[in-house]
Amino acid sequence: MQIIQSVNEMQSHAIGLRSSGRLIALVPTMGCLHEGHLSLIDIAKEKADKVIVSIFVNPTQFGPNEDYDKYPRMLEADIEKCRERGADIVFNPPLNEMYPDGYSTYVDEDHITDGLCGISRPQHFRGVTTVCLKLFNITRPDIAVFGQKDAQQCAVIRKMVSDLNIPAEIVIGPTLRDEDGLATSSRNAYLTPLQRTEALSIFKALTIAKGMVDEGVRSVDRVIAEITHTLSLSRRVRVIYVQIVDRDTMKPAREILPGKQVITVAVWVEQTRLIDNILI
Ligand code: PAF
Repeated sequence: MQIIQSVNEMQSHAIGLRSSGRLIALVPTMGCLHEGHLSLIDIAKEKADKVIVSIFVNPTQFGPNEDYDKYPRMLEADIEKCRERGADIVFNPPLNEMYPDGYSTYVDEDHITDGLCGISRPQHFRGVTTVCLKLFNITRPDIAVFGQKDAQQCAVIRKMVSDLNIPAEIVIGPTLRDEDGLATSSRNAYLTPLQRTEALSIFKALTIAKGMVDEGVRSVDRVIAEITHTLSLSRRVRVIYVQIVDRDTMKPAREILPGKQVITVAVWVEQTRLIDNILI
């Protein structure tokens, strides 16, 4: 497995791979890799000849009071995990090559980013779309693999790729959960054992909600009320939002239409912000 840090070297290597006819898959990450990320590498390996895992903690997607500084960084362990999982290249660019002094160009998606996480994290998706377009331009992927846990991010990236005619297929891997049901996330590392137990109410609430939909409940208000109630039983959990939205537009649903929507939840578990969702 190669480890490439220089942006220019990565770009010329990717151009070379493409011209020799190799299919490239990119798995963009911010490191602190867990089984969720590794399952995306597995998907990438099935679909492409060369798998690039990018590891870059992207400052432009963090708000001023967010956890950029304390975001867990464990490059050596991440590289080892990528090697064991069979990635071909780890691309780990330095900050000053991704955002040199005087950097001033950003990508904005205008509609999908309006609601949900876009409300409490106003600059977040602009940072995500910007860095993903840069990573796409540097690594030239035929396929880029993202995780369903970030449902709004997936919708925004799909829209950017379509709107900007980016020649890459976006593949979404399912949310991976620990045995207790908690969705894998790098931010789970912040949770104390007690907070983690409380965080289990997220998946419990989503499972109850999915059960209601499967049994024929079509009232958005009823399902949201049930989720909110279940979450409220955990003292350390504070709801940021609970919404049922269209999978593509992320606009709130008026009634439940199975097969087209996703139930999305964001909460604070004390100081840790967690998101999760379930397709319905
Ligand atoms: O999902 C993430 O880890 C990040 O938002 C991404 C896609 C790597 C962009 O920094």
